Amino acid sequence: MIEALNPFNLAYIDLMEPDKPDLEAGKVINPVLSTFGSFYQGTVITNGGYDKSKGNDKVATGEADLVSFGKLFIANPDLPKRFTVNAELNPSDFKTFYGQGEKDLDKGYTDYPSLELQPSSDFSR
Ligand SMILES: Cc1cc2nc3c(=O)[nH]c(=O)nc-3n(C[C@H](O)[C@H](O)[C@H](O)COP(=O)(O)O)c2cc1C
Repeated sequence: MIEALNPFNLAYIDLMEPDKPDLEAGKVINPVLSTFGSFYQGTVITNGGYDKSKGNDKVATGEADLVSFGKLFIANPDLPKRFTVNAELNPSDFKTFYGQGEKDLDKGYTDYPSLELQPSSDFSR
């Protein structure tokens, strides 16, 4: 199926690795990127369980062109900056995923703190 997508000049395909519940349920392809990535000739994005280091490794080996982030981005609105300066990451609050916040439905999506950057930082410009 992935090979059949090649003639369509798509912007990219995004291949998601199985998450913990998928693995526990069984009958999943693991890993997805190394199994399917080479069938696509255009831009391949990989996703699922990556951090900065694992993501950089996949790009360095050429297996993927780009890496996308879900949970880390939810918890870190300034994730690219944090990766650039090797800052600590906010932990994700799983209790508020999928709108499970008790009263305020936005809780957990809009209130994670951004880095407090020094005025001399490159990012203050
Ligand atoms: C709270 C939450 C909501 C998500 N919503 C979507 C969605 O609407 N559409 C989608 O394709 N993936 C959605 N995902 C999956 C993510 O895009 C991503 O594939 C997954 O979280 C694995 O990547 P990660 O390990 O970087 O989080 C969601 C994930 C989370 C945690």
